[in-house]
Order: sequence, then C-alpha cells, then structure tokens
Amino acid sequence: KVISILKELQEKCETPTGKLCQVADAMTVEMHAGLASEGGSHLKMIISYVDNLPTGDEKGLFYALDLGGTNFRVLRVQLGGKEKHVINQEFEEVSIPPHLMVGTSEALFDFIAAALAKFVATEGEDDNLSPGKQRELGFTFSFPVSQSSIASGTLIKWTKGFSIEDVVGQDVVGELSKSLERVGLDMRVAALVNDTIGTLAGGRYNHPDVIAAVILGTGTNAAYVERAHAIPKWHGLLPKSGEMVINMEWGNFRSSHLPITEYDQTLDVESLNPGEQIFEKMISGMYLGEIVRRVMCRMAEEAALFGDTVPPKLKIPFVLRTPHMSAMHHDSSSDLKVVGSKLNDILEISNTSLKTRKVIVELCDIVATRGARLAAAGILGILKKLGRETVRERENQKSVIALDGGLFEHYSKFRDSLESTLNELLGEVSEKIVIEHSNDGSGIGAALLAASHSHYLEVEE
Ligand code: BG6
Ligand code: GLC
Repeated sequence: KVISILKELQEKCETPTGKLCQVADAMTVEMHAGLASEGGSHLKMIISYVDNLPTGDEKGLFYALDLGGTNFRVLRVQLGGKEKHVINQEFEEVSIPPHLMVGTSEALFDFIAAALAKFVATEGEDDNLSPGKQRELGFTFSFPVSQSSIASGTLIKWTKGFSIEDVVGQDVVGELSKSLERVGLDMRVAALVNDTIGTLAGGRYNHPDVIAAVILGTGTNAAYVERAHAIPKWHGLLPKSGEMVINMEWGNFRSSHLPITEYDQTLDVESLNPGEQIFEKMISGMYLGEIVRRVMCRMAEEAALFGDTVPPKLKIPFVLRTPHMSAMHHDSSSDLKVVGSKLNDILEISNTSLKTRKVIVELCDIVATRGARLAAAGILGILKKLGRETVRERENQKSVIALDGGLFEHYSKFRDSLESTLNELLGEVSEKIVIEHSNDGSGIGAALLAASHSHYLEVEE
C-alpha cells in the first residue's frame, strides 16, 4: 500500500518536457495579459519604477533593509563609484519573532525601526556620511506591492508566513517612516523594491548581461527587464532607457497544466492564503517540507508506514521544514542514518526500517524534483517572452539570470535539478543562458537603487 501511494504521487507529479513547455507557454501568455491591463491576469506584472539599473557610478553611504525572507537584514554600504565600487559593506541579520508576522502593523514596523536604529548607532568613523546629509535607505520589501513611484507603494496582499490585516492597502513606506520617526531615526526611504528587483539590480552591478532575477527561498518570484513599449498598461512617460523592470509576482501563477495533487489542494485550503500563490506552494521553501509531511501522514494513516498509530507530531502542520527534507534527501549513508535521526528528532518516530527510510528519500525526491522543474519552466517562460529561447544567428550575447534565496543556495539537489532541466528545455541555447548565484544581492541592490534615486544626486554631480 505504501508503494502504491508513492507510485500514485509520482505519476501525479510527473513533469515531462512537453508538460513543462506547456507551463512555460502559459506563463508567457499570462505575462502578456498582465502587462496589458491591471487585473488582466493572475500575474500582476508590477511596474517597479526602476527604469535604470546600476551602472557602477553610484557613490556614498547608504542603508538597506531587507524584509520578507527567513531573516530580516539591515545593511550599510559605502559605494565608491566606478573605480572603487563597494568599499565597505556591513550587515546584521535579525530573525522576526513569529508573533510579529501575524500581529499589528505598528508592532512589526516598530521592531524593524528599532533594529535599524541600533545598527545605525554602530556607524563608524570610516563611514563617510557627508555632513548635513540625511541618511537614505533602500527598502527591500518582499511582498506584492502596487508601486506608485520608486519610493512608495501599497501592499496588495501578504504572502508566505505573514498576515497583518491592517497593512493591506497601506503605503508601506509611510508605515515604516512613522516608526522611524517614533524611534527618532532621521532617515529617508529613497527606494522601495521587491527582493527580485533588488537581486536584479545587485546582479546587474556585477554583470552587465543580467536580464532577470529569480528568488527561490521561503517564497518564489521573478523580475526581468522589459521594453517599455511592450507594457500597454504603462501610461507614463517613456523612460529614456526604453526599459522598465517588472516584478512578475510569479508565485501567484496558475495553469491547468500544473501537476496539482490532492496534497497541494489540501495544503492550499488550509493555508493562510487559500486560492492564492499556487505556483509558489508547489515550489518554494516554505511549502516543500509541508507537502512531504502531508504525504507521510497519508502513508501513516492508510498504510501504517510507522506502525499501528499515526505519530502525533506528524500531524502538526509545518513541523517538517524544507531544510529537514533537504537533509534527508541528501543522506548518502548506506543505512540512511540522517533520515533516521531527522525522523527521530523532529517527528519523534524511532526505529524506522531501511525500507521506510528509502520511501521517505524517494518522496523528498519526487516533491523537490517537481518544484525545481516547474521553476525551470517559469524561467523558460521569461526567456520566451523576451525571444531569447532560440539561437539567433548574429547575436552572440549571453543572458544571465541572477538567482538567490535559501532554497537555491542550500538545497543542492533542487538546484542541480533546476539547472539540468533548463539544459533539457533549452537544448543548444543553454550555452547562452547563464544562471548565477547572486548572494544577498538584493540588499546591495536596494542600496544601489537608493543611491541612484538619492535626493543629493544633482548636488553631487
Ligand atoms: C536573500 C535576499 O538572499 O534571499 C532576500 O537577499 C530574499 O532579499 C531572500 O528575500 C529570500 O530567501 P529566503 O530563503 O530567506 O526566503
Ligand atoms: C513571495 C512574495 C514576493 C517575493 C517572493 C520571494 O512570492 O509575494 O514578493 O518576491 O515571495 O521572496
């Protein structure tokens, strides 16, 4: 019976090349629809107001805040212009107490502002803030925000583990600024960006061929550089660069071609945001471990995988985190002792047989492979939208995609599967597509965008 549940899962999760191409095509279609009109698609295709990516000329001392991944980060960056680039970079990581993720706006933003104030207090003599200048901040806020300018925007909805009703519909920069005032910190938000946009900016700073950024972490999303005239819903002036960076919010993508199982359906129904972020729930770090737990539960209930009773811990949603899943999936010992010890430590299931452990490794493999292959299909969708998925005779240019996020960084089997799937999908074009890990690029990217939108820019030049 255990094996039949496993086989059934495997069949339902299958992602042959043909299916992935259908997913990629559906992604391209939705991209067009989302660019055509507001609300025209599940893909919001948010206009970021970033129409110029970093050039390397950025100069000065800037701060950045990064909220929305596993940890919240504060950064201080000293930019030295063309010659010197990043002279100095310091950061601090603080984890957000879980109760603040579901509390009030004031509590969350006050916490952030306090952490930032503490960090600013450590500014040293070498941190050259010109006298009389107000400090400026790039704010990476990794949720869907409807931008009204480069430095303002209202929260459309929360995603991942956050749910604070009174922020929805509010200008997040306004909320942060009120808290900064309360803690007595004189600082201006010069740029409000999504983590994908920050990663794209940070990636471009190091590599001129970066055209898109993908986050594979707690959540998943992508941003890319679009031609401004290909955005019918943009009624503003045509930017000088002719380009505009788009935050796709691809986590909310859905399509009848997605291989959805009963486990995905119940996970969705019982989640904080039912009916939303369907693509994200099949791919990202917040959910992969939870899918595995749900299958294990069914195997325990219907096929006595762990004996006569269902281990009580196994019934707790989200106890099995993706890092645990990854550790089990990467277990290369002959008796799968890591699997054994994870089951014991996390789920209080002891004395599992080697056969049972093998089933669990297989289960992790099915769920991770499906997620990685779908993410690759999403990337193909972007390349298709840009017409970069075929070999063009004269154009020998590479397309670099900046990737970041804990899932990509730490789950090697996921990353390997993503990369090999891209090769499979792209064939000979794969030589021209480069996946680059942009480590914590989004923090530095936000600081760079704060620099290029600084109040003091004209004065300095
Ligand atoms: C980080 C980026 O490296 O990855 C963040 O700097 C981003 O901006 C994060 O939000 C996502 O990863 P995770 O795994 O922490 O959700
Ligand atoms: C979620 C957020 C999105 C973010 C992504 C990765 O999908 O909605 O804004 O970019 O997670 O952190």
